[in-house]
Parts: sequence; C-alpha cells; structure tokens
Amino acid sequence: EQQAAFARSLCLFRKGRAQNFLDQDHSDQIVAWYRAFEDVEDRAKVATLDEIKKLFVHARTFGEDLRASAELCRGMIAASLFYEPSTRTRLSFESAMLRLGGGVITAADMRNLSASKGESLADTARVVSGAYADIVVLRHSSEGAARLAAQYSSVPVINAGDGAHEHPTQTLCDLYNLWLERGRIEGLDVVLAGDLRYSRTIHSFAYALARFGANVVCVPAPGFEMPDYVLQRLREEFGVEPQRADTKSLGELASQSDAVYLTPQKPHQLSLFTDARGFAVARVDALYMTRPQTERHPNGAQLDSYVQIGRRQLAVEPLRDAVVMHPLPRRDELSEDLDSDPRAIFITM
Ligand code: CP
Repeated sequence: EQQAAFARSLCLFRKGRAQNFLDQDHSDQIVAWYRAFEDVEDRAKVATLDEIKKLFVHARTFGEDLRASAELCRGMIAASLFYEPSTRTRLSFESAMLRLGGGVITAADMRNLSASKGESLADTARVVSGAYADIVVLRHSSEGAARLAAQYSSVPVINAGDGAHEHPTQTLCDLYNLWLERGRIEGLDVVLAGDLRYSRTIHSFAYALARFGANVVCVPAPGFEMPDYVLQRLREEFGVEPQRADTKSLGELASQSDAVYLTPQKPHQLSLFTDARGFAVARVDALYMTRPQTERHPNGAQLDSYVQIGRRQLAVEPLRDAVVMHPLPRRDELSEDLDSDPRAIFITM
C-alpha cells in the first residue's frame, strides 16, 4: 500500500509541486488516483473530484518548499523507461524522485535495452519490476503500452504517454495549473486547439474537463479533428454531445476550422451561448494549444493551414483574458511574442 501511495504521489511530483501522502493518513482515500483520467476498467479505482482537488491543495503547499520532503522516498528506486523522446515529462519525473530522496534507473538510449534484441514489453516490465525498481514510469509509442506493462509489472506503472492515446499525468498538471489560475475548473470555458487527432494530452484533458463539468470548444487544425473514439467516450461516460460551434468571434484562430462545442450542460441552460447559428463563443478562460504531432502523422499530412497564435490572434474579445497553455514542446504554433505576455503560462506550468 505504501508503494502504491507513493506511486500516486509521484504523479504530481513530476512538476515538483506535489504533496506526499505517506505521512498524511491519505493513502486509503487516494485509491489509484494516478489513473484518474485513464479508461480504467474498474471505475471504483478512479479518484473522486474532491480527492483530486485535495491533491491540488497539497501540491500547492509542496510547491512552497521543494526541498522539504527529501527523506520521504529514501531507499526507493524509480525506473524511467522512455521509448520516445521527452524533455519535460522525463526530467520532471526523475527530478521528482531525486527531490524525494530516492534514486532513478534508466537507459540513456532505450535502443540499448534488450527490446532491441527482441524482448517484449511484458518481459521488460517483469524484469524491471522484479527487483530493480519500486515504480515504473513508462513512455511508449504504442497505444495501450502502459496498461499492458502494468499487467505484467509487480510494481505500479505510471503512464507517461502512450502513442496518440493518453497522457494522464500531463492532464493532472494542466488541471492543477488551470485551478491555480482560475480557482476552479467547473464551468470554465476552455478552447482546445491544434492537432486534436493525434495529441494524447488533448484526449486526456478533454475527458478530465468533461468530468469536472467544464465547457470545451474544439478548434482543430483542418484534418486534425478530435477522433470519433474520444467523442464516443465523452458521450457515453460524461453525457457530452458535440454541438456545432459558431466561432466567428474567435477570429483567425478558428477561421479554417470546423469547431465543435462540448458541454455537459443541457441546451436550456445555454442561453448565454445559444443563437440561431449554433453555440457562439463569448468568453474563453483558457486556450490550450498543441503542436502538430508529426511523428504520428501519415505520410503527406498537410500542415499548411495550421494556425499560429500570437498577440494579434489573441486580441479578439473572447480571448482577451484567456490564459494560454501548451503541453510543450512547441514549434511554430505559439509565437515568441507571447513569451512575455502575462496570459502565457506555458513555460512555467
Ligand atoms: N508534455 C510533454 O509530454 O512533453 P515531453 O514530450 O517533452 O515530455
């Protein structure tokens, strides 16, 4: 149980801002919260919204002194298995474990692991979890890799991104930062923009926002619309029906896009947004931009219409007070003229 509790804590430690639960009598309550936004089969293992909000409060406290918990994981080891490139996710997990007083084992180049000799992920998970590590943090290019590894691992496995599927710990950080900025998540209006098809951070974030009762406007780059399987889960699990959105008010950001509005609210509650043309976007709390996930694109994917966001595009009325978020790394989709803009929180989040 202690190991599992530690695993759950580590997810938020990835940004160096979490609280550990080992000494706080929380371990029974926080059941498998690190899977809060994945499609876990056992719904009883999903953290409640209250539990997640408690985590945010603890995370904020932890952020006040990153060096205060250096004894909590002494003697514990995290295996950092990153089969895909990463800066933030990998280094933040490794930094988190070191800040807790534990150690990290990894391979500088995953091509040097036995996978290159044909070892299956299942066998790697068995071997690493057998005696080497107390927790595994896995990034992999295949959808479902973390779930598979968890089935064969004897220690907790954290999904640090599996293909185009999900990135739940990024979502915890995104939610946490949104909560810090706005003081709540319920009822916020959030625009998800860019490559909605292949961006795993978008998928996890959309489920989480739906769970919290936020409204989402999807503004995909042409050809990179939200996948049907994500929309289906939003519909079946959260009762969210996609509606056509009128995004004229968003100007250049949405000029090429077939935008849809995802809201947990019933139509009669939408008087502020509804007009004859569909759901008009009046005010946005957060704009979450994503890069084109070119490593997952089929050959010949067109990026000509991929929008670039800068101060000019944010000058329209609904975006005037929106915080600008991005899971990073960015390419050209976020202009550098935003770097000094107080609305841009993407570097520090
Ligand atoms: N947000 C994110 O996953 O970034 P990295 O690919 O750099 O880890």
